[in-house]
Amino acid sequence: MSSSSRLDDPEESFMTEVENFFNTAPPLKDHSVIEEKLKGFIERNSHASENGVSMKRIVCVTSGGTTVPLEQRCVRYIDNFSSGHRGAASTECFLKAGYAVIYLHRRGTCQPYCRSLPDDPLLECFESVNGSSVQVQQAQAEAVRKAIANHHAALQQGLLQMIGVALRDLGSRAMFYLAAAVSDFYVPWESLAEHKIQSSAGPLDMRLAQVPKMLSVLRKDWAPLAFCISFKLETDSHILLEKASTALKKYNMHAVVANELVTRKEEVTVVTTHGKICIRREAGDDVENPLIELLVQKHTAHIEGNKGTMEGQTKSNQ
Ligand code: PMT
Repeated sequence: MSSSSRLDDPEESFMTEVENFFNTAPPLKDHSVIEEKLKGFIERNSHASENGVSMKRIVCVTSGGTTVPLEQRCVRYIDNFSSGHRGAASTECFLKAGYAVIYLHRRGTCQPYCRSLPDDPLLECFESVNGSSVQVQQAQAEAVRKAIANHHAALQQGLLQMIGVALRDLGSRAMFYLAAAVSDFYVPWESLAEHKIQSSAGPLDMRLAQVPKMLSVLRKDWAPLAFCISFKLETDSHILLEKASTALKKYNMHAVVANELVTRKEEVTVVTTHGKICIRREAGDDVENPLIELLVQKHTAHIEGNKGTMEGQTKSNQ
C-alpha cells in the first residue's frame, strides 16, 4: 500500500500514529530484564492448575497518573491528579479473589497494602531509641504489622510489580483493568528542548500532540480474547454516562467504569452492553470491593462464553 493511500484509510492512519508514537519514544529502561520477569511471572501462573486444567487468571492493573516531560533532561513536567488509590485497592481485591496481578504503576503512587499507612511512613511510623536503634511507634504498630503481613502473603501468591501487557496466550483468562489516568497529550521526544527551557526567553508557547488511545489496539491486536475494562473520568456529571457508553462501543470494551472526580471514592457506574449498574461504597468499606466482585462475575461469564474459542485456538495451535 502506498503511503498516501495508507493515510486515506483511518484505520491504517491510526496504526501509523501508534507506530510513530512507539518508534519516536525513548527506549524503555531495562527492557529485557522486565520482559524476562514478565515471561517468568506469566509462565509460573499459567501452570497453576485445578484438576489438570490450567485455571489461574491474570489481571493487568494500570494505576496512577502519568507525567509528561517538557524537556529531554527533564526539569519540568505536566502531571495529573491520580493518586493510584483505585489501582492499589483493586489489586488487593483481585488478589483476594485468586487472581495473579501485574501491577503497572508509576513510582510514588499508592501501593497495595500500604493505604492505611501515613503519607510518609518512614518518618511517621518509626522512632529512634537511645540514638542507636529504631523501633515502630506504638500508635502505628498495628497498621505496620498488617501492611507487612498482607504484602508478604501476596508475594508468596505471586505479586510482582512490573511492566508489561504480554498476556495474549492466556486468552480469555487474562483481564486488563485500565484504571491509570494516562495523559492524552504529550510533546514528542524529537520536539522536546534538550536542556532546561529558559524563562528569560519570555512566555512559553508549546504545542502538545495527542497520545493515541491504545484501547482499540489492545482489543484488536494485542490481546483479542482478554476481558477488557477501561475507565471514564469526567468532572461534569451530565456527560459522564454518555461518554462511557460511547467509549464502550468505540473501543469494544467489555465494561467501562464511569466515575466523577469528586465522588470517585464513593460511587462508580459499571456500563456494559446489558445496562448500567451503580455501585456505592458501604460505610467502612472501599468501593473497590463490590466493584471487583461484580467484574470477577462478569469475567467468569466471559471465560465460559469463550470456551469454544479457546478450545478451537488450542487445537489449531497443536
Ligand atoms: O488514582 P485515584 O486517585 O484513585 O483515581 C482513580 C481514577 C479516577 C484515576 C480512575 O478511577 C479512572 O477513572 N481512571 C481513568 C481516568 C482517565 O484517564 O480517563 P480517560 O477518559 O481520560 O481515559 C479513558 C480510558 O482510556 C482509561 O481507561 C485510560 O487508561 C485509557 N487511555 C487513555 C489515554 C490514552 N492515550 N490511552 C488509553 O488507553
